[in-house]
Amino acid sequence: MSDPCPEGGEVIVGDAAEVLPRLAAGTFRCCVTSPPYWGLRDYGHPEQIGAEEDVEQYLKRLTAVFREVRRVLRSDGTLWINLGDSYTSGNRRWRDSDKKNPARAMSYRPPTPRGLKPKDLIGIPWRLALALQADGWYLRSDIIWHKPNCQPESVKDRPTRAHEYLFLLSKAEGYLYRHDAIREMTNGRGRLRNRRTVWSINTEAFHGAHFATFPPGLVELCVLAGSDSGDTVLDPFFGSGTVGQVCLGLRRKFVGIELKEEYVRLAEQRLWRKRVAAH
Ligand SMILES: C[S@@+](CC[C@H](N)C(=O)[O-])C[C@H]1O[C@@H](n2cnc3c(N)ncnc32)[C@H](O)[C@@H]1O
Repeated sequence: MSDPCPEGGEVIVGDAAEVLPRLAAGTFRCCVTSPPYWGLRDYGHPEQIGAEEDVEQYLKRLTAVFREVRRVLRSDGTLWINLGDSYTSGNRRWRDSDKKNPARAMSYRPPTPRGLKPKDLIGIPWRLALALQADGWYLRSDIIWHKPNCQPESVKDRPTRAHEYLFLLSKAEGYLYRHDAIREMTNGRGRLRNRRTVWSINTEAFHGAHFATFPPGLVELCVLAGSDSGDTVLDPFFGSGTVGQVCLGLRRKFVGIELKEEYVRLAEQRLWRKRVAAH
C-alpha cells in the first residue's frame, strides 16, 4: 500500500524486505537510514526487525534488506547507516521497564550471543558493517556521531556512552560524495576544511508517538554529501519520517518504507505540516 505524501515524496507501508524487491533497479541516489537496533524496542509487529533471538539472524535479515537497497541504488549511489550498540545480558532474560516509555522497550533481553560473556559490548554496528562489506558493499568510512547531550548512565565500571556509529558505504569504487557541501570550520581560524569523522550533534526528542528518531542535523549532512537537488533519497526504516522532512527542506525527493501504519500516519502529518509551512 502506497500513501500519497507531499510533492516529491512517497511513503510505502510494509516490510522493507517485501517492498524493496518491487522497486525498480537504479532508482535512488542515496539511502539514509537507521534500522531498528537489536533487542531494544518492541515495535509490536510480527515482521519487525530487531526482535530476533539470535544476533546472527538479525544481521542476516538486515544484510538481505541492504542487498535489495544496493540493487535500487544508482551505480554511483551511497548508503548511510546509523546503528546503536548494546551489551550482553548475561543470564537475565527480562529488562527493567523504561521509565520514560514503559510500553515501548522490549520486555525481554535476547540471549547472550555465542562466544560472548556477560557484560560484553556486542559490537553490533561493526558486525553489520563487516557483513555488508563481505556482501559486496564498499565500506568507505565509519563516522562517530558524538552526542554532547547523551543520556546519563549509572555505571561505575566504564565511561558513559556518548556516541553512535554512522557508516558510509558505496555500491562501487567511484560514487557521488559532495565533500564541498559539508565542509566544516577549522578551530578558531574561520576557514573551511574537509569534514572530519567526528560529528557532534545533539539528540532531539520528537514530540509525536514515535521514538528513537534521527536528529535532522545528522540526516542533513548525509543527504547533502550523498545527493544533489532533485535526486531521490530512500529510507527503508522511515519511522516518523525525519529523512523525508530533511529532503523536503533540501529539495530532494524521497521514498520511505515503514512497517507500522501508525508511524506512517505520524510521518505524513509531520511532512504535511512542513509543506504548509514552506508555502
Ligand atoms: C530506529 S526506527 C527509525 C526512526 C527514523 N529514523 C526516524 O527518524 O523517525 C526504525 C523503524 O523501523 C521500523 N521497522 C521495523 N522492522 C521493519 C521492517 N521489517 N520493514 C520496515 N520497517 C521496519 C520500525 O517500525 C521503526 O519505525
